[in-house]
Amino acid sequence: MKITEEIIRLQQRFADVSGLSFHEKRPGFIFLNINNRHATASISLYGAQVIDFAPHGERPVLWESACSFYAVGKPLRGGIPLCWPWFGAHPENPDLPAHGLARLQYWEVAAVRNTADGVTEVELTLTDSDATREVWPYKFKLTLKVTVAETLTVELITRNTGTKSFRISEAMHTYFTVSDIHSLAVKGFDGCEYLDTLDQQRKQQKGDIRFTAETDCIYQHADAESYLVDPAWRRIIANRRSNSGSAVVWNPWIAKSIRMPDFGDTEYPFMVCVETANVGECAVTVEPETEHQLAMTVRVMPLL
Ligand code: BG6
Repeated sequence: MKITEEIIRLQQRFADVSGLSFHEKRPGFIFLNINNRHATASISLYGAQVIDFAPHGERPVLWESACSFYAVGKPLRGGIPLCWPWFGAHPENPDLPAHGLARLQYWEVAAVRNTADGVTEVELTLTDSDATREVWPYKFKLTLKVTVAETLTVELITRNTGTKSFRISEAMHTYFTVSDIHSLAVKGFDGCEYLDTLDQQRKQQKGDIRFTAETDCIYQHADAESYLVDPAWRRIIANRRSNSGSAVVWNPWIAKSIRMPDFGDTEYPFMVCVETANVGECAVTVEPETEHQLAMTVRVMPLL
């Protein structure tokens, strides 16, 4: 189906949902846009990737690279990519795509509704297909529920629809917009054990996380809530993780930014990833006909 026809079909199907629109952001890439009583948001149907979220009157909460590829088979660089059913490189086959298959598939719009208090709920789904079974031989149904209120809640539900159990690692790889990484403090990890993936050493966090170089750390069994304290913008972004044993904290800094073709060389000061994840020892087994839910809620608070 042509993109224009698909957009018309979606507009007609959800004509009764006020504040909802669909548009083709780049050739072949349909976005679902929400402008409700509380906030604006946009979600790419490719990857089921929330790209923008801003409560009314607030600066954007999520970051997207100006150099993001819009090419099928490549991920979008920004917002909340979904890493699933593996995180990072595939454990056995490095030729398979990094961070799994979910961010590289077109998802279906299953439902969109507004609640009585003006909150918008979106449900996107992805089921196994020949293409997914080629890289991961299991039957599944994934549902992404996005709730756009003054807060943003994202839930990823993995259902095993097959007869064999499977083990997944996963992440909501959230790119947050910050005024300047050099003055940012991330709170909530004091005392937590982490794997520094740059030198493969296990370490313990002392105090706030501060950034002075490339950072790529996996915090295990971390507290459920963390806080990005942004002094220049006088705001705190709180991120509450649920059913998430791991949090990955990432900033590529200078050399890695230059190496990444879809990341601007001078963009790294304006973003940080704090990911809601289950990786390594926190990977999850999903038995047949059962499901597992991973969720996060983001809220913006003034820094007084
Ligand atoms: C992070 C990883 O989660 O994702 C980093 O810890 C990685 O090692 C980053 O570089 C980005 O990954 P990708 O596949 O989107 O370039």
